[in-house]
Amino acid sequence: MKPRAVHYSPMASVPQPRLSILISHARIARRVRELGRRISADFRGESVLLVGVLKGACIFLADLSREISLEASFDFLAAASYGDSSESSGQVRLVKDLDSAIEGRNVILVEDILDTGVTLNYLAGLLRQRRPKALCIAALLDKPQRRIQPIEANYLGFQIANQFVVGYGLDYAERYRNLKDICVVRLPAAGKRARRK
Ligand code: IMP
Ligand code: MG
Repeated sequence: MKPRAVHYSPMASVPQPRLSILISHARIARRVRELGRRISADFRGESVLLVGVLKGACIFLADLSREISLEASFDFLAAASYGDSSESSGQVRLVKDLDSAIEGRNVILVEDILDTGVTLNYLAGLLRQRRPKALCIAALLDKPQRRIQPIEANYLGFQIANQFVVGYGLDYAERYRNLKDICVVRLPAAGKRARRK
């Protein structure tokens, strides 16, 4: 199948990786609608607290929340892994904590992508200690081949192969979060060398 063009006008001065669409925004919208319906059915008659993991989950959370027909509030966490930015070190630290208490509440932890599982394992463990009524995970993407710590999403958008993706909130060095589609990045040779430093 011929890759579809990505509508994006990059900065002329920066070397450009090649992008090809993996999951179109129409497919994402359909799947997010289904996930919203399932969450609405599973928590019928109750309220939910959507906890987004900054920054990657913000677009998924914004769209998912509007497909949930329950009373819903938002909060956000930010985590960083120690060491190199391209490979997880296995150690996570909290950069931003929640603004609100979660004891007795239905918490849905919303993440862009489950990769090694290290970040979500840490964050889910942290939130569980605070005794929520329920703690679920909604992840837009899952790369099961990369998993080093066992964790599964209760609400999953798409399973993908072991490839680096951007768009719909996901970044490569803080770029491409605003792409509508989820795209595979093929890094130019110079970019690959730069990442290994
Ligand atoms: P984990 O702790 O290895 O599961 O890392 C999850 C985090 O790594 C995600 O929240 C993303 O920020 C980042 N990540 C993993 N894979 C990708 C990818 O393909 N594109 C962009 N970010 C990714
Ligand atoms: Mg990221």
